[in-house]
Amino acid sequence: MDWGQLAGRLFRDRFGHAPAVVVRAPGRVNLIGDHTDYTGGSVLPMAIDRQVVVAAGAREDGQLVAYSEAFGQTLSAGLGDSVAANSSSWMRYVVGVATSLKRRIPNLPGATMWIGGDLPHGAGLASSAALEVATARAMLGLANEEVPDIELAEICQRAEHEFAGAPCGIMDQLACVMSRKGRALFLDCTSLETKHVAIPWENAGVGKVADYGEDNGHALVVVDTGVKHEIASGEYARRRSECADALRLIREKNARVRTWRDLDEKEIDQVVAGMPVELARRVRHVVTENARVVDAVHALERRDLATFGQLMSRSHESLRDDFEVSCLEVDMIVDCLSGMRGVLGARMTGGGFGGCVIALVERASLARVEKQVKRSFSGSMRDFFEVRSARGAEVVARD
Ligand code: GLA
Repeated sequence: MDWGQLAGRLFRDRFGHAPAVVVRAPGRVNLIGDHTDYTGGSVLPMAIDRQVVVAAGAREDGQLVAYSEAFGQTLSAGLGDSVAANSSSWMRYVVGVATSLKRRIPNLPGATMWIGGDLPHGAGLASSAALEVATARAMLGLANEEVPDIELAEICQRAEHEFAGAPCGIMDQLACVMSRKGRALFLDCTSLETKHVAIPWENAGVGKVADYGEDNGHALVVVDTGVKHEIASGEYARRRSECADALRLIREKNARVRTWRDLDEKEIDQVVAGMPVELARRVRHVVTENARVVDAVHALERRDLATFGQLMSRSHESLRDDFEVSCLEVDMIVDCLSGMRGVLGARMTGGGFGGCVIALVERASLARVEKQVKRSFSGSMRDFFEVRSARGAEVVARD
């Protein structure tokens, strides 16, 4: 798909002139490492070949006028406008990012924007981060300015905290900004150091970037449950504060422990002794999940997909039982997939309480697995599709 051309044409049809810049920003799946970013842990997201696309032109009046193809709606606002005044939620991200960015780049102009793409929104594939990053990159394009990758991700994360009221971690924004094709992004959320890890099922050989694109017989699939539970945002914030409470309790009793990094799997039982049961479970998830991410990176480096698949499944069990962020619909799809021949592993991905399941599937079994899942969940699930890795956000056309 030539997004530059398509978005350029749709922008022109709507606003009567050509855009100055067109940007694409990918969604992501998280291969493993959920609910660890905001505790300074490790995560392993992979940007996917579905994206938010923003075409933009500068405005002299300092206003933001944006049309969303997904919502069929044009909204306008001033930079820094109170977002509560905006009834629609997608505009919060646009206004939030533009306002946060203007603090850093004072000569940022207003903008007319067309927003489209093929990333399902609200499905747990980081559509908000993609919208934030696409907006930010488009506005930077209008101002002819650059901001370093990590800072850009942080500006977008801050906008989400301040303007959308979602206390998210940094994983989604960084994955959207920094990913490379053929690679997953191993991210240390304390130091913000990253490592691009070759994805074996997209690379014929390890080490040579030119090799990617070769398929070694496996596919990563996404099953969109179509479910979004209302409790999601409140529960996310609650998990964050439960983690903070748990760490505080551990530190009171163990002078040696400063951060989650100081905890080892072997000492979980000892440090959670006497703690409320729920908090103890949260600790178990965070500590074991961080270890699984490191093991998963090693498994990818060895091209050991059987172990990688098992780690995915163990991660799901931990999110379901210890962190309690899954839900019935997601668990049923994961169970169904896990029991099938040709499926190496399956798990929820992202924040949870609905959203998407990912599974690593032998290519030879893909058609059968798809048919069986669709038959078992006909009417209840929204979509089943293969995803491939993608580059981070980029300008795809410029006037
Ligand atoms: C959401 C947040 C991320 C991360 C995941 C769970 O996607 O935006 O920061 O916390 O949930 O891993």
